[in-house]
Amino acid sequence: MADLQLTLKVWRQKSSSDKGKFETYDVSGLNSHMSFLEMMDVLNEQLVGKDREPIAFDHDCREGICGMCSMVINGRAHGPLKGTTTCQLHMRHFKNGDTITIEPWRAKAFPVIKDLVVDRSSFDRIIQSGGYVSVNTGSAPDGNAIPIPKEVAEEAFDAAACIGCGACVATCKNASASLFVSAKVSQLALLPQGQPERKERVNKMVSKMDEEGFGHCTNTGACQAECPKEISIEYIRKMNLDYNLSNIKG
Ligand code: FES
Repeated sequence: MADLQLTLKVWRQKSSSDKGKFETYDVSGLNSHMSFLEMMDVLNEQLVGKDREPIAFDHDCREGICGMCSMVINGRAHGPLKGTTTCQLHMRHFKNGDTITIEPWRAKAFPVIKDLVVDRSSFDRIIQSGGYVSVNTGSAPDGNAIPIPKEVAEEAFDAAACIGCGACVATCKNASASLFVSAKVSQLALLPQGQPERKERVNKMVSKMDEEGFGHCTNTGACQAECPKEISIEYIRKMNLDYNLSNIKG
């Protein structure tokens, strides 16, 4: 187990109204088996030991499920590994003596609350606008009682893998939320239960996304490259098609 000593340049910001700045910390007592968040815990223990304010950062499950661990590490959302959340990133991917830069998600629709914590309630409001099924689907049906072709079920399942972390927004040069919204639209639009509200849903969710201040998609594909769940931009094409079809009159 290799010992690590790192220099961390971390974004510190007292509140949303504070300008914020980078602060540099030397951290020791680390090893290559630690996760990135455990490394942050060690840094915070060292800061508290020196009577300094610990760094605020979001986390919950630490298992790649909840989407809370939002950090831009060396300029990349969730760090250097493909298909990996910050909490699943391990320090063996860094070298002794490395300098690591850590920033919050940066987007108008995700204002910084404190240090590395941003307000992602805009995502909640998009879901509240239509990302649900309100038809009565009754009690749980028997397995395979609703015939759905395997490839369609898998496509819906892949869309449902989105954990709503916001890496797509943080990565996109336009701060577009199209990958997130398209995944949430598609997971329902592909299934029979999602059909009654299909047109209304896509309209409401796309309108809400615009209202919340997210930028437009210009198909750079950066979101797909950095998404920790490797959600495909094909869902954006499907969402745009659905949106256009839902607005055809007559
Ligand atoms: S803490 Fe839950 S996905 Fe990282």
